[in-house]
Amino acid sequence: MISLEAGFTDDATLPVADTREIVEEVLGGRDARRALQYGSTQGEPHLRELTVDRLRRLDGRAGAPRCQATTDRTVITNGSQQLLYMLAEALFNPGDIVLLEDPTYFVFLGIVQSMGLRARTVRMKADGMDLAHLEAVLSSLKREGELARTKALYMVSYFQNPTGITTAIDRKRGALELLQRYSQKRRPIYLVEDAAYRELRFAGSDVPSTLSLDGAEDRVIVTGTYSKPFATGTRVGFGILPEPLLTTVLRIKGNHDFGTSSLLQRIVARALESGRYERHLERLRARYAAKAATMASAMRDSFPKRVQWDEPQGGLYFWARSPRRVSTGMNSTLFRTALGHEVLYVPGQICYADDPTRRKPNHEMRISFGNATSEQISLGVRRLGSVLEEIVGSGDRRVRESRNRRSHQPGGHESLRPPRM
Ligand SMILES: Cc1ncc(COP(=O)(O)O)c(C=O)c1O
Repeated sequence: MISLEAGFTDDATLPVADTREIVEEVLGGRDARRALQYGSTQGEPHLRELTVDRLRRLDGRAGAPRCQATTDRTVITNGSQQLLYMLAEALFNPGDIVLLEDPTYFVFLGIVQSMGLRARTVRMKADGMDLAHLEAVLSSLKREGELARTKALYMVSYFQNPTGITTAIDRKRGALELLQRYSQKRRPIYLVEDAAYRELRFAGSDVPSTLSLDGAEDRVIVTGTYSKPFATGTRVGFGILPEPLLTTVLRIKGNHDFGTSSLLQRIVARALESGRYERHLERLRARYAAKAATMASAMRDSFPKRVQWDEPQGGLYFWARSPRRVSTGMNSTLFRTALGHEVLYVPGQICYADDPTRRKPNHEMRISFGNATSEQISLGVRRLGSVLEEIVGSGDRRVRESRNRRSHQPGGHESLRPPRM
């Protein structure tokens, strides 16, 4: 089975030698005992400083004159995933409304569902959220008297999981302004920017985070991670949060775990300050660039022309769209045939929230180049391509035949169904 499904990172480049050296250094140094002791719930001050320095440097290099990250507003968490969960717990009551990109990170949808939240979705453009649609959604929430229950907008702004879209700074600014405009007195609608994939860019130029925008300090939450750019197994993530949200999140984190592992935080801090993190990231970017190019070339060679996709500039995913009538879902002929040919992808439908205002699309696929080797990528894409050729091609033939039949049956109207094989 070739899995082009999981969001796992590249196995072969995991920094084993670097981490072994770092562990020696951490446990051989003056700080060894502190590395093996409980730490603070908020996280090691040194790692928080390094995190803020890094964010400021990234935003500066991306052209932003300022970045409102501060160490006292930073929390270190067990992966950014833990922070997303705690934020949801801090922000929402059951039945509250969350604004979501359409589609979005499907694990976040699990949180939305388990907390009994209502989702309102916003359409995407090639460079981020459709602001006219966001405004329409906000204004209909206002008309319905639901603004007080609308607590946050969740945005995966760099190489979005699943679509690979990166949000332009003007769209981030526009979204924040709309949230400010529609927030009621003492009831802010927060902008949660999930920047998990920011550092996995291998082409094009970086975009500043929302921390660079006016009004960010009391409206914006940025979550990030050291797991994807360094080693997913360290499970070290972070976030910059406004008060009073920070206090609530720290209370929740105290109840969960008293703080992220001191040892793992020191390993990440040492990787950052010794330059190993940056050198590793360079290797990783080159590796993902090569794997993405392999995937693109295999898709060009073997996917039918009617399946569309864009080449990502970073992250781990391609997002492919088959014609609308060809379902890609778990029970579809396509998915089952792909499984029979031993190749797996993520059906696009699971990345769409339940939203009563629109039907869920069911013709897309997330295809990952993160964990598979180059050979597996070439072979897996070729297998998927031949399945698509079979199904999309046969669908085209059926549509043509049915159109021809209908042209001989005046007045006949038949809705098109996905092909059955
Ligand atoms: C969009 C997004 N956010 C957050 C995460 C969580 O990553 P981690 O907990 O490793 O920081 C992931 C993991 O796949 C992700 O895709």
